[in-house]
Amino acid sequence: MKRFFKKLVGANNAEEKSDITATNVPHHVAVIMDGNGRWAQQRGLPRVAGHHAGMKNVKKITVAANDIGVKVLTLYAFSTENWKRPRDEVDFLMKLPQEFFPLEIEELIEKNVQIRMTGWKEDIPPHTLRVVEEAIAKTQHNDGLILNFAFNYGSRREMLEAMRQLFQEMNEGKLTPKELSEEHVSKHLLTSDLPDPDLLIRTSGELRLSNFMLWQLAYSEFWFTQKYWPDFTEEIFYESIREYQRRVRRYGGLK
Ligand code: IPE
Ligand code: IPE
Ligand code: MG
Repeated sequence: MKRFFKKLVGANNAEEKSDITATNVPHHVAVIMDGNGRWAQQRGLPRVAGHHAGMKNVKKITVAANDIGVKVLTLYAFSTENWKRPRDEVDFLMKLPQEFFPLEIEELIEKNVQIRMTGWKEDIPPHTLRVVEEAIAKTQHNDGLILNFAFNYGSRREMLEAMRQLFQEMNEGKLTPKELSEEHVSKHLLTSDLPDPDLLIRTSGELRLSNFMLWQLAYSEFWFTQKYWPDFTEEIFYESIREYQRRVRRYGGLK
């Protein structure tokens, strides 16, 4: 009976959400969704089964983030280094958006979610890019949570390209080295219209950034869990939020 009640309460997250403070919700949460391959291998399944299970988890966490008032959720889905993986695995990952968007777009629209992508479009197979761009176009006027996929994203390439653009502007006499500011750099990154992440979550127990938002994470709070991404639940997500709310962000000053 008790279990049943718990299940009922859990169904709308009332229990887990109850002690989250509405005034101190991270504006931008970024997640390095890691551990899909190990999740599958642990079950004797091919790695791609883990990617599929991981895809199935995206909407649930998006809704959970939206429910507590997170404004931007960035999910690291494919890095510029992930092209090094076996061809079959890369092909599978590149096809996932074609399954994800037709399956989830209606509910995401209902929730007023705006889809975005941070990454280089030119390397993405045309059929995949088409569904991503359709989803972006369909949701561009939504003003709820921004669900931003870091897809074919890498921070060093991003910074290198920003440097190239800035040097070009200097060559053209539009900017002097002395005028160059942090704002100039931020405005030349792919994330120019997004605030820096307040909270970074990485699943699967790995304690590294793997070329993710090196500039943008300068003062973000980091939170790690051993759980593999397909096992990452709303409850664990809210645990990270509660811990975030207990932290004191000093930015080098004193509080
Ligand atoms: C994360 O899971 C998804 C991608 C990097 C595309 P992994 O595929 O890295 O899973 P593990 O880390 O090998 O378990
Ligand atoms: C980081 O995970 C990239 C994504 C989650 C998309 P990886 O599994 O590629 O990172 P490493 O290789 O363990 O550093
Ligand atoms: Mg990994």
